Amino acid sequence: MPKPDMTRGKVRIAPSLHACRFERMGEEIEAVRRAGADWLHFDVMDGHFVPNISVGPLGVAAARRVSPGFVLDVHLMIAQPDCYLEEFVRSGADIVTVHVEAVHHIHRTIQAVRALGALAGVTLNPGTPLGSLDPVLGDADLVLVMSVNPGFGGQKFIPSALERVREARRMMDARGSKALLEVDGGVTAENAPALREAGADVLVAGTAVFGSPDYAAAIRKIRGE
Ligand code: DX5
Ligand code: ZN
Repeated sequence: MPKPDMTRGKVRIAPSLHACRFERMGEEIEAVRRAGADWLHFDVMDGHFVPNISVGPLGVAAARRVSPGFVLDVHLMIAQPDCYLEEFVRSGADIVTVHVEAVHHIHRTIQAVRALGALAGVTLNPGTPLGSLDPVLGDADLVLVMSVNPGFGGQKFIPSALERVREARRMMDARGSKALLEVDGGVTAENAPALREAGADVLVAGTAVFGSPDYAAAIRKIRGE
């Protein structure tokens, strides 16, 4: 599988499958892909790291079968993610993003994801200092700033997250990081312009896409077209 294009300079929209109609998962994946989505964002929740349970490697593998060329952006909200990295990559994840709060050795985890042939993302909860990412900014392929407390779709964007996106951009630029900066949680067509202006490269949107009657129009609006 060729690696996803990670060059900066265009805003990517990643609909979160968490908000889709699960009884029609395959159709929903194809619908957002045809509607212009750049990536498919996959929220994996285990009932321990976050107070909710969602899909795991079987779901990722199913998405991969439905859409072989779609970039699968897998966000692990699970305890002990190191134990499952291989299974997610084998299931078809292109990007595996891990929470700094969930691992003891984030640098080692990044290396492990890359050694498995996937791209490595790092993320942190809204209450975790951004500085915890600083030492690994040069190693990660993706930096994800959470703009809600993870665990549920459809939550309201936490206003202070905007400043954290701006600060993450500053830190990444200062370090010469080539990683993409992604924002996840409560993203809407209304707050997307400020997020793009603050330096976000990838906007995750669950409810704002799957809750809309016209996926293509929703994606265009979030992208600012
Ligand atoms: C939150 C998840 C998000 C969420 C996005 O735990 O990581 O990806 O499902 O959904 P919306 O856009 O509805 O906030
Ligand atoms: Zn997510």
